[in-house]
Amino acid sequence: MAEPSFLTAVRESYDTVAADYVERVPPPAEMDPLSRAMLAGFAELVRTAGPRPVADLGCGPGRVTAHLAGLGVSAFGVDLSPKMVALARRAHPDLRFTEGSMTALETGDDELGGILAWYSTHHTPPQWLPDVFAEFHRTLAPGGHLLWGDYVGDERLQPTHGYGRPVSYESYLLPLDRIADLLEEAGLVVTARLEQEPDGRVKRPHACLLACKPETP
Ligand SMILES: C[S@@+](CC[C@H](N)C(=O)[O-])C[C@H]1O[C@@H](n2cnc3c(N)ncnc32)[C@H](O)[C@@H]1O
Repeated sequence: MAEPSFLTAVRESYDTVAADYVERVPPPAEMDPLSRAMLAGFAELVRTAGPRPVADLGCGPGRVTAHLAGLGVSAFGVDLSPKMVALARRAHPDLRFTEGSMTALETGDDELGGILAWYSTHHTPPQWLPDVFAEFHRTLAPGGHLLWGDYVGDERLQPTHGYGRPVSYESYLLPLDRIADLLEEAGLVVTARLEQEPDGRVKRPHACLLACKPETP
């Protein structure tokens, strides 16, 4: 089956901007404190649940994957963009990074102790989110945790440039309640939400959701 055009656009765009992304986007140490707290809480939850691996889906250059590893989590990264994966491997040779799409993961059923989707689902058209969240549910072990973080709103953006370069991806900002409903429809249970107003570091409203896969279906 032919690849959906949005995936091709995202891959080509992030291949184009990969090096600029690393230059322009601050590393996790400079992230806002509440987002870092959510990452720390997520790391504690998955560590407590057991030794299963945690997938950072849409890991980009792997800096948040490495941040999680620094918090004692057995983390690996997956990204659509070969250039991003190459940067991640070069910067973090001790961690595993693979090319792939969160729309169809190569991970088996019930394998993961956790999934991080950190600013990586906003290029997915809303009609594809049920497929993505079904993949999250399929690959998480019962009792496994999801941390989702991203921009929120009610807008479709068609930028011509990103990180100083021409891009062809689109961005779809959804209300946090819509994301929560879609996760629940996929069989996950939402356990915590954080919504933040724009600030000096992040120019748009942004949010985090924690969810888990129930022990019993
Ligand atoms: C804004 S960057 C965020 C990168 C990283 N999570 C971080 O916070 O530094 C979005 C990343 O998601 C990746 N991405 C978008 N859609 C994807 C998909 N369907 N499967 C895998 N990666 C995807 C892009 O290639 C890009 O590297």
